[in-house]
Amino acid sequence: TEEEPIEEIDLTNSKLSDSPSVDRAALEEDRKRKFENHLGDSRAGKILKKARSKVEENKMKAQEKQSEEEVKMQRKVIHVNRTEEILASRSKLPIIPEEQVVMEQISDNIYVVLAGETGCGKTTQVPQFLYEAGYATEGKIIGITEPRRVAAISMAARVGKELSLTSEEVSFQIRFEGTASSKTLIKFMTDGVLLKEMGHDFLLKKYSVVCIDEAHERSLFTDILIGLLSRCVVARKKRNDPLKLVIMSATMRISDFMENNVLFKTKPGFVHIPARQFPVQIHFSKVTPINYVETAVKKVIQIHKKLPPGGILVFVTGQQEVLTIIKHLQRLCPNTEDPDESVNSNDKKGAWRKRGQKPLKSVNLDEVKRFPEEIEPGSDSDNSETEDVNIDVDTSNLEPLHVIPLYSMLPIEDQKKVFEPPPPGKRLCVVTTNVAETSVTIPSIRYVVDTGKVKDKLWDKVTGVQTFRILWCSKASAEQRAGRAGRIGPGHCYRLFSSAVFEHEFQEYSTPEIKARPVDDMVLLMKSMSIDQVKNFPYPTPPDDEQLQVAEELLLHLGALQRPQGARKGHPSTISPLGLTMSQLPVGPRFAKMLAMSFSHSLAEYMTLLAAAFTVQEVLLEAGGDKALEEKWTAVRKKWTGVGQSALLGDAKVLIRAAEAFEHDGGSPEFCIKMGLRHKAMVEIRKLRKQLTNNINILVENQKEIILNPKLKPPSDEEATLLRQIILSGSPDRVARKVQPDEVSGGEDQNKLKNAYKCGELEDLVYIHHASVLRRTKPSWIVYQEAFEINGKIYLRGVVAIEPEWILVLCPTMCRFDKPLKDPPPYFDHTDGLVKCFMKSTYGKQGWELPVAQIE
Ligand code: CDP
Ligand code: MG
Repeated sequence: TEEEPIEEIDLTNSKLSDSPSVDRAALEEDRKRKFENHLGDSRAGKILKKARSKVEENKMKAQEKQSEEEVKMQRKVIHVNRTEEILASRSKLPIIPEEQVVMEQISDNIYVVLAGETGCGKTTQVPQFLYEAGYATEGKIIGITEPRRVAAISMAARVGKELSLTSEEVSFQIRFEGTASSKTLIKFMTDGVLLKEMGHDFLLKKYSVVCIDEAHERSLFTDILIGLLSRCVVARKKRNDPLKLVIMSATMRISDFMENNVLFKTKPGFVHIPARQFPVQIHFSKVTPINYVETAVKKVIQIHKKLPPGGILVFVTGQQEVLTIIKHLQRLCPNTEDPDESVNSNDKKGAWRKRGQKPLKSVNLDEVKRFPEEIEPGSDSDNSETEDVNIDVDTSNLEPLHVIPLYSMLPIEDQKKVFEPPPPGKRLCVVTTNVAETSVTIPSIRYVVDTGKVKDKLWDKVTGVQTFRILWCSKASAEQRAGRAGRIGPGHCYRLFSSAVFEHEFQEYSTPEIKARPVDDMVLLMKSMSIDQVKNFPYPTPPDDEQLQVAEELLLHLGALQRPQGARKGHPSTISPLGLTMSQLPVGPRFAKMLAMSFSHSLAEYMTLLAAAFTVQEVLLEAGGDKALEEKWTAVRKKWTGVGQSALLGDAKVLIRAAEAFEHDGGSPEFCIKMGLRHKAMVEIRKLRKQLTNNINILVENQKEIILNPKLKPPSDEEATLLRQIILSGSPDRVARKVQPDEVSGGEDQNKLKNAYKCGELEDLVYIHHASVLRRTKPSWIVYQEAFEINGKIYLRGVVAIEPEWILVLCPTMCRFDKPLKDPPPYFDHTDGLVKCFMKSTYGKQGWELPVAQIE
């Protein structure tokens, strides 16, 4: 051939001298010339020249891109003019002198862990550092997530004020409420909001930086966010559009993040903000009181009476306790404002809101909840009434006290009051849940009264039986609470428990939420994001395999997940079309399935009401031994239940009728007592239903809008049957069967067996709760919404009668069939004792009989 052998020259990696004295440009020129000569005019030469120019072109392009990147990296610094007052308050914060260190770490690393004592300025200052360094330029924004609504709202307001920006520019966003817009530069949001955004845009392209605040709280959705973001930042780096992840935490258990090589492939940057804390003297109680609410009131009065000026902060477990303590203090101290004015202001506005109007405030959704701002740590969902007690304490010569509440469900305008100074001459006393432990720092506190208690929901991992317990908080939490007293000067913390109890009964740290609750909503969320191998997800603390398995199985039973036909048990499941719809709904998977089903039957109005009503605890009052009352209430419930097919709707029917009667009456407490309803529960149901209806109408496009009809008519027999089927379809694992007298060996008390039921998963016998209308009729097959334990006996609530044949069709995965059942049809007919199934398209025309089946 005419081609000459050519010397190989590496164009991309030419070894120019490393010595700085050599003129690189000259050398490069020389090399190019030599190469040019060498190639000559041969064909190979021509080809190579072409290739070379291509390489050069690419190189130039790369250089251009790089310089573009560099420009981007040199962000436009923004200058902020702050008022004297703000400058003065900032200058006291320990994080201010560390600004450069913090910003260097963020600039040098894609992930940074920032640890600092509560109140050092993480939440309010880091977003400002980032803003001034230009992280909110070039169309990008700064995001900060909070596990609590209170923090998202109040911190956005504070940062907006410090930067003199509008509430749109420094916005907050909680689910269904917020000020974020296209003008937003800094966005405070609950972690659920960001999770939802990651569902649409995994790369979070509009953010330049995301700060995960309160990471030490280890809420389930914060953990999931950190896992997702650990991958997201790597993907963004690869795209030359870096996203920074800043994990902000109080100084506890940092190692879960720092030494986690599953989460972070390279070690994250780290900044520790030294504390500027005054000493706090800890006073343990000699004995641990039983009634800590009463003891807390006494302690506040003692402090107020005897000790020098300074705010008092009281920690209890929930909204109800907060309100009880306030009521007592208000009674004992003269001139103390009526807190009910602020606390219940929202209830008084109880008019029905029309669609399109924004909800005034979000309410606690309990099981209906799905997203983190709805599953708040230390949430205030308690419905327990605290009885009035006369507190024996010397109240002579008491000065007035400025008492204010703080809890997560407090209306926004009332939350702000904790930051305002008390009226002149009055001592401030804030009664709070663990909201004030780390997320909100109240200025001017000198005395802390700590009950050492925290409210915790516990679930049995397998059966899902739920218990609600007041527990000791962790040692770390107790330290945090005490620390609140040492912000302005030396302080005192009064612990309402003994040092022995603290030493022996307090855990070091509280358990990460992911280890302590069912994870079905989390698994559904992940699958909806195509994360099919949920076991391999980079969790900060992985859940147990058993938990994941239970969740996946429930979702398979619900039809939210699917496995290819014939796949083995371990094969990862993927989301089904039904599951995708369910993942859009703002409720847990069970209610999501029921709601999804109810849409196809135009029964969504009933189902939203039922989802709300089933969620609220103890709606129906118990007579507690009062025979006359019991008779009266039983009669009311019987009347509501009615007769015929629709009576089999049981508790669901009672709840539908109760809600209607409540609205008809206008919702007075007297009416509720007369009808055997707990007033607070009814108010809660009204709120929840309203919110749920609004939310679903916003979310579910292309669906007929749900009408919020306060006076919903009782369902017809046909509708009631469909509702029973829908409720069953969402509760496949909550079916119970009446125990036959000959079924249990002679040892058991036959009388007790009369009321006993058996559930698939539970070893123990279960019983329909006294307040349920079906306790008397005792249907053979039932579904329930809640199983809970009282004195070692398991009771069922939210009970509805079903026909066993329905299980075959609606919950086929719960059954074992002799012949395989192909594509379980969603519609069926139940006449003449024969179960006939119909495909949707042929409904009412053609059907076929079910193969012989055995219900497990
Ligand atoms: O996040 P971290 O606990 O480190 O502190 P921060 O929430 O940024 O609070 C820093 C300081 O700002 C505290 O002393 C708060 O009392 C104060 N602050 C305030 O005065 N008003 C607000 N609305 C929010 C915070
Ligand atoms: Mg903070």
